[in-house]
Amino acid sequence: MKKAFKEAYGHDADAVYFSPGRVNLIGEHTDYNGGFVFPCALSFGTYLLIRKNGEKHINFRSLNVPKVVKVSLDNLTQRLEDNSWANYPLGVFAQFVKRGVKFDEGYDIMIWGNVPNGAGLSSSAALEVATAFALNDQLGTGYNRTELALIGQKAEHEFALVMCGIMDQFASANGKKDHAIFLNCDTLDFELVPVKLEGVKVVISNTHSPHKLDSGAYNSRVAQCKLAVEQINKVRPIKFLAELTEEEFKKVEHAITDEVAHKRARHVVGEVQRTTDAVKALKAGDLEKFGKLMNASHVSLRDDYEVTGPELDAMAEAAWKIDGVIGSRMTGGGFGGCTVSLVKDEAIDEFIEKVGAEYEAKIGIKPDFYIAEIGDGAKRVE
Ligand code: GLA
Repeated sequence: MKKAFKEAYGHDADAVYFSPGRVNLIGEHTDYNGGFVFPCALSFGTYLLIRKNGEKHINFRSLNVPKVVKVSLDNLTQRLEDNSWANYPLGVFAQFVKRGVKFDEGYDIMIWGNVPNGAGLSSSAALEVATAFALNDQLGTGYNRTELALIGQKAEHEFALVMCGIMDQFASANGKKDHAIFLNCDTLDFELVPVKLEGVKVVISNTHSPHKLDSGAYNSRVAQCKLAVEQINKVRPIKFLAELTEEEFKKVEHAITDEVAHKRARHVVGEVQRTTDAVKALKAGDLEKFGKLMNASHVSLRDDYEVTGPELDAMAEAAWKIDGVIGSRMTGGGFGGCTVSLVKDEAIDEFIEKVGAEYEAKIGIKPDFYIAEIGDGAKRVE
């Protein structure tokens, strides 16, 4: 990257930053409903090299895309209309401008990431948080990691037009090696829980499914949950679905007249409970229970939230058949992307072989498998 930076811009970079992708162990589609999530940062992510250029524009380059994207300092709050990848870092610049930062000089930027794109492992959040972390460091604005995550989330809302929750950016900013983050997405209070699994690995299976999580399908889930909240408010005031226990939900669910919104709400309420139970189980060393909750999470995302699809279902079902699999579920937004599984060490080879073969036979795509290494959140590398 350093060589490419010098070749492209004619001088060396001043600094190198890194921000990771994430895998969510449990707690899916709960974040924008004020619920719990339990993600961890990965050891792969996005690298960003930067240097001031003395000019009146920012140059965005990515090793993954050949063309430079040049944006004038006068246009930093304007989204690029062609769905350019540069909207992610540009959206972060826009947030700094909105918070009162005045840029009187531009930057040369070079980006490269090793999070597989569109795999539901938050390549976009990694890019947003890498940019926010870099600017915060370069400008000395003093935002803490949570504020940087919120800046990244806003960038995603306004420049990628996905009304995401806070999980991905939060995990990328606040991750810690060998820990998962038990995050309350309403208060943003969080606890780092050690994930030291004796004889068990976290395996990520990439469906390579062409169906990406498009903003339409995601945003419609957000809207359906909002509708459920509005309808519940006729009988009980709530701000978020996650405020309701399963018992409480049973008392008010009749108020949700929209059938789809009802199913979505049922998933959210159940998933928040499963996430709390799963964290308790992990702390108590009860991995079997943790695994069962992961499986139940997948079923609920399949039947009530309807975000799995044939590829993720095929992958999870193949995994459930293997003896040494403690639990397996889709992770991230859904509609393709990856599953996450807890697999006993001695079953990993069999897992990769059998799940790979069954998935390929059913779907016609060769999947990829990664053993997840849980890494640290955003940092300056040099
Ligand atoms: C995407 C979003 C997150 C979260 C997950 C589903 O990754 O960016 O905010 O909603 O989907 O849990």
